[in-house]
Amino acid sequence: MIQYDEKTALFRLRGDTYDYVFALYEGKPEFLHFGNRTDGDLRPLRRYDYKSFSPMIADEPGARSFGDMALEYAEYGRGDFRTPAVQIAGDGFISTDYRYTGHRIVSAHPEADGLPVFRGGETLELTLSDRLSDSTLTLYYTVYPRALVRRAAITAGRKPLTVRRLASFSLDLKGMYELTGLFGGHAAERHRRTWQPQAGKSVIESSRGTSSHQANPFAALAEPGAGEETGRVYGAALVYSGSFRIETDIDQLGNTRLVAGYNPDDFCYPLAAGTTLTAPETLLVFSDSGYGGMSRAMHDTVRDYLLPEKFVYAPRPIVINNWEATCFDFDTDTLCRMLDKLKDTGIDMFVLDDGWFGHRDDDRSSLGDWFLYEKKLPGGLDALIAKAKECGMRFGLWFEPEMISADSELYRAHPDWCIHTEGREPLTSRHQLVLDFSRPEVVDCIFRQMEAVLAKYDIAYIKWDMNRHLCDMPDFTTQHRFTLGMYELARRLTERFPDLFMEGCSGGGGRFDLGMLKYFPQIWCSDNTDAQARCLIQYGTSFPYPLSASSNHVSICPNHYTGRTTPFATRGAVAMLGAFGYELNPAQLTAEELGSIRRQTEDYRANEALVLRGELYRLSDPERTGIFCCELAAKDGSRARLTYVRFAMSDCPVSPRVYPKGLTDTATYEVRVGDAESLRFTGRTLMAAGIELPAVWRDNTAVVVDIIRI
Ligand code: DGJ
Repeated sequence: MIQYDEKTALFRLRGDTYDYVFALYEGKPEFLHFGNRTDGDLRPLRRYDYKSFSPMIADEPGARSFGDMALEYAEYGRGDFRTPAVQIAGDGFISTDYRYTGHRIVSAHPEADGLPVFRGGETLELTLSDRLSDSTLTLYYTVYPRALVRRAAITAGRKPLTVRRLASFSLDLKGMYELTGLFGGHAAERHRRTWQPQAGKSVIESSRGTSSHQANPFAALAEPGAGEETGRVYGAALVYSGSFRIETDIDQLGNTRLVAGYNPDDFCYPLAAGTTLTAPETLLVFSDSGYGGMSRAMHDTVRDYLLPEKFVYAPRPIVINNWEATCFDFDTDTLCRMLDKLKDTGIDMFVLDDGWFGHRDDDRSSLGDWFLYEKKLPGGLDALIAKAKECGMRFGLWFEPEMISADSELYRAHPDWCIHTEGREPLTSRHQLVLDFSRPEVVDCIFRQMEAVLAKYDIAYIKWDMNRHLCDMPDFTTQHRFTLGMYELARRLTERFPDLFMEGCSGGGGRFDLGMLKYFPQIWCSDNTDAQARCLIQYGTSFPYPLSASSNHVSICPNHYTGRTTPFATRGAVAMLGAFGYELNPAQLTAEELGSIRRQTEDYRANEALVLRGELYRLSDPERTGIFCCELAAKDGSRARLTYVRFAMSDCPVSPRVYPKGLTDTATYEVRVGDAESLRFTGRTLMAAGIELPAVWRDNTAVVVDIIRI
């Protein structure tokens, strides 16, 4: 619900779990509150703090300074020296002073110039203009039950201008906050890092042309002392897959500004008169029940209003992918031997990974040539697809649409189609170059090639990979226009093939963000499939992203990244905390091992509703404790599953007592742990007194507890 009170010029945006309030102060929107529900006029609550050396808005008693106010959207050059959300320059101006000119409330979610957006909700569009630059700033606020989505757009009037910075939003919070971000690298994505900034600026960013393995476009701000289920926590996640910056700035009064948008390091955008530039949407959540409450609100909003509607709550394909088993070294016979073994395992999607096209036998050739490598696959894809069907599976294919190999027909025909700077040899990474998706003809060529393959063969699934980051760009607009070109290809494919299921991937989870999740119901979480490493990666990933967005496979041991051997059951239990599948060679498995796969796929299907719709409770912080423990509970309290992994069996095998959540107090539950005799307790007892887990005698042994209402 969006309310506007004309007398007080106060806007109140109300979800089920929060109020977001701001008011106009001399036409400038001033932020008042984002938190639990409020009533009436909040303006008098706010004390105005002034600190010397802040230029005044008017030279009179009681006047204010932009430099000390809680501003709704921070500008540059008018006495606010904190991080701006918008900064433009034109002939004769580098500052702005946007003032309110009007607003409207719309029920259709406004489109955003090719950027992915949430769907539904009620949106407030607030229009502000700056006389000198003749430009207009539009702030968008979409209200959902458990979250607010914000973005901004700038429109040049009669004067052309250059946009040096543009953020989705800024948020001026009173006080200082603990900051959480997700950091890492290839095969080590999204490790949770939490620290307490004491002063100045903290930055979470990527300038790699993708959201990256190294830093994720998500941040949480928690009041000191907040925990997993207690305290006030804010979460922010950008709906964008290119370079980004999320910044906090603590000012001289000890207050914190949060800003998120394009990364000004590789962004500078000329706007012709009359044209508009839009910043990506950001999902904003307030929780008064800690990080857990924040995550559950984010998960719900992403599932209900962003992930592709057609697939979000439908059973996911149980995939087997040949990459870890064969790498590039396969032919029709190898694949058929794999397929033969998969009958009756419950796996229902065979995905043929890299190496099926052009003349690709290693990573030096053929990207851009999306036609069958016939010599390698005699009989063609039709034969393989028929074989997969015969063995109870549909068929999927790997693509890397945004890339080009120098050794390809496409490159020989269009050497200028790769991103490059005239006069400089572009750098390669994994021997490949990046296609300039800022050019519509390039996107169109790749679309046509993919369309030809997808229309010719019965392909139910694609894995869309992206294996290098961007450099050698000719200007500061290419990176963003490349990202828009990538979204355009994803949009065209989903429109042309509405039943096609697309999995995102970027050398594992190098592009795991809400922008991709608009088109991809799930994303390959990491190339690191070691169960222990995955506990940490999936733990971090779960802060903003629902578990069903994470694609996880059981793979072979010793693990090819860590060299570690973990029990098969642990690999299964961890991989089941997301969209489930396999990455191994079934032709090398015994009948008993194939039987274990069958039992795992049955178990996954029986509990899949929890993964797709359940509420997540993180019961331990594995980064700190070496113990991974989380619970998925059905929203109606009908069942829950608890997954526990202790990485190292150190001095004693005793397991801790764990306290489930999200059960119904008065209901009776059966608690099942492995083959042990089940026990019965009420929900109240289980949540209050906890469950004693069995002792484990081996490193990385998983304990899975099912709690079923009877
Ligand atoms: C990187 C991906 O993350 C892997 O799963 C695999 O698809 C390879 N690329 C193929 O080149």
